[in-house]
Amino acid sequence: MSQPRDHWSSNTGLVLAATGSAIGLGNLWKFPFITWENNGGAFVLVYLICIAAVGLPIMMAELLIGRRSQKSAVGALKDAVASKWPAGRKLGALAGGWGVLAGFILLSYYTVIAGWSLYYFTKSLSWTFGGYPVGMLPGDLFNGQALNTGLQLLLSLGFSLGTIAVVYFGVSKGIEKIARIFLPILFGILLLMLVSALGMSGSAEALGFIFRPNFSELGMEGILEALGHSFFTLSLGMGAMITYGSYISRKHSVVKASGAIVALDTIIALVATVIMFSVIFSVAGMREEISGSTVGMLFISLPELFYTEVPFGVVLGPLFYVLVALAALTSTISLLEVVSAYLIDERGLTRHKATIGAGAAIFVFTTFAVLSIPGLLGVSAEGLLSTMEIFDGKIGWFATADHFVSNWMLPTGGFFITLAAGWFMTREATKSELMDGTEPRWFKYGAWRFFIRWVAPIAVAAIIVFVIRGVDFS
Ligand code: PHE
Repeated sequence: MSQPRDHWSSNTGLVLAATGSAIGLGNLWKFPFITWENNGGAFVLVYLICIAAVGLPIMMAELLIGRRSQKSAVGALKDAVASKWPAGRKLGALAGGWGVLAGFILLSYYTVIAGWSLYYFTKSLSWTFGGYPVGMLPGDLFNGQALNTGLQLLLSLGFSLGTIAVVYFGVSKGIEKIARIFLPILFGILLLMLVSALGMSGSAEALGFIFRPNFSELGMEGILEALGHSFFTLSLGMGAMITYGSYISRKHSVVKASGAIVALDTIIALVATVIMFSVIFSVAGMREEISGSTVGMLFISLPELFYTEVPFGVVLGPLFYVLVALAALTSTISLLEVVSAYLIDERGLTRHKATIGAGAAIFVFTTFAVLSIPGLLGVSAEGLLSTMEIFDGKIGWFATADHFVSNWMLPTGGFFITLAAGWFMTREATKSELMDGTEPRWFKYGAWRFFIRWVAPIAVAAIIVFVIRGVDFS
């Protein structure tokens, strides 16, 4: 049972794997959409503040809690609480278990959306070689595939199997290896798309929309949404980063890695948004179409635009959906790793058994998510599913699950993590983890401690209070 623990082979390996977890549908799909809904500029600025003031300190906290105990979420949080309060181990275990459950639920529906990217990849390949069908209604195409339960099951099964296959091979030989190959490809594709998008006529307007703050356009709900999204996008609040932190060896810096992961995730979210809005603002009538029916940008508006408007779109179209699939896969593997690592560390299962068992159990719930799609489609006014309504609506396993995870599980989990790192662990313990001689010069331990003890928990408690009072910011 007690084999030596697998570790990231280098700091770069850790950064790529954790950045892979962070960059996902949250960056490419959810962020552009909520930026749109909240009228750009001011929302983006508040989001950036949340990332720096709450996201970054919690990222460091999660990685340090994991690195210190060399155990996954449950064991690590037990150890963290027990460092000052030995009788509190149970509470730590409970919080870790809460995270494992969040990973389980999140993965069950994330896979379905990830599956759509596979569909659009094959579709766009066929358009590239066979020509884009004139007169096709993009919404109908989307609905057609989403309503085809057999196809949906096949796509999400494919995605689940891919995820299981990577996690099966473990940390350095599976997760890190895939991240090392996929992330550079992902950055390359995004850069190509950015260059193409900046050349379009709407790019200046897009940049203005995203970066020029106008606070009269932002309400309290938008602020809370920005805070909630900073957890989701950085994979925080559920032990994913604790688990990845538990594979960091003593030689590697938590602080430097956290800075890099947070910076990369944020840059990619902004770049994706610039790309999408440049395209949208370049096309007459697109703006109304999007605000009017909140048609999903990623799977309904964009496919057509690639073939009608975007320079080099025939090449960039398929590449874009590969990008979405790769980004989603490096996130789903981190979700499955949270559940598997728990079974391995706490339940003594072998990695092979844990991965296959957890993967299969989660797929059962993926099936529920797939089966709930027709119900979702049935309710929308135009008979057309806004892909965004899945994150917005209140029906189906999909919507219920996302609502519960984003609004309740991640913020409460994150709140507990701030307490564990800021209040339960001793100053000496956190200081020795962060100030280990490898930390960069910009880092001030006292500042981190202030943020993790005060700023982050108060901000997160504010979200929770607002959620209790009924504000939905998913
Ligand atoms: N960060 C991922 C995204 O932005 C989602 C995720 C959340 C992954 C929590 C792992 C853990 O899509």
